[in-house]
Amino acid sequence: MARKPTRARERERLWLVGNWKMWPDTATRARRAALKFASAAFPRAPHLSLAVAPPYPFLELVRAVLPRRWALAAQDPGDPAPEGEETGRVSFAMLRSAGVRLVIAGHSEVRARGTPDALIARQVAVALGEGCEVVLCVGETERDGPHDRFAFVRKQVLTAVSGVRPDALPLLRVAYEPVWAIGSRARATPEPSDVHEMALWIKKVLAERYGARAALATPVLYGGSVHPENARAFARDGGIHGFLVGRASRDPKEFAAIAEALVSGADDRAALTR
Ligand code: PGA
Repeated sequence: MARKPTRARERERLWLVGNWKMWPDTATRARRAALKFASAAFPRAPHLSLAVAPPYPFLELVRAVLPRRWALAAQDPGDPAPEGEETGRVSFAMLRSAGVRLVIAGHSEVRARGTPDALIARQVAVALGEGCEVVLCVGETERDGPHDRFAFVRKQVLTAVSGVRPDALPLLRVAYEPVWAIGSRARATPEPSDVHEMALWIKKVLAERYGARAALATPVLYGGSVHPENARAFARDGGIHGFLVGRASRDPKEFAAIAEALVSGADDRAALTR
């Protein structure tokens, strides 16, 4: 028997964020890429939020081309309160005025460059306080035992939200990104059940500080070698509400296929729990 489609108002919100990293390498290519995204067949589902994080120099030209439905995201929120005059730094206020509505904070590649935990915590608190959505990245570096990774992620989450007031929490999304599963050097991908376990753990950790209700309402995304073939299983069985995608977000067809898989996987899950 055909399954009854889930009605839009019953569907939980989903997030799909593309992190272009250092791609493309020229302004001409960035404009061309944005035009392709603007005309690609992304699902029209109203409960799906779409965002893309181009390199800083191309924020404005990508913003000018993408339809309004797309949120412009920054790959690294910079220093929210730089003091004095400092060459080469970008303030959070500048990003806001360039149209940025979402920031990725604490990405493992940014952490690996030595960004201190205290700065990540400040970025998260200031961005949320200014009404900007934040995708906070957390995840263990090595494929270690459950005890190690749960303790590691707990510390990352609690440190990063140390300055976040409860009323700012609705704009926070936490992306679980095991470092060993990210990028072209990825060694493996976790099973959806591993991701599910970590998504529950992240909510449990947030509940220590904000209570169960607010913690359960905080969406957890998954990131690390997401592609059209594995996205549906993660969305159905991974206990997550979206993806942070690197490489596959640069191809509009692949990214749109991931969006479809996210929506279908979330519908599968809803049907299972009804
Ligand atoms: P990937 O990158 O999808 O290319 O593994 C994910 C990320 O770095 O957030």
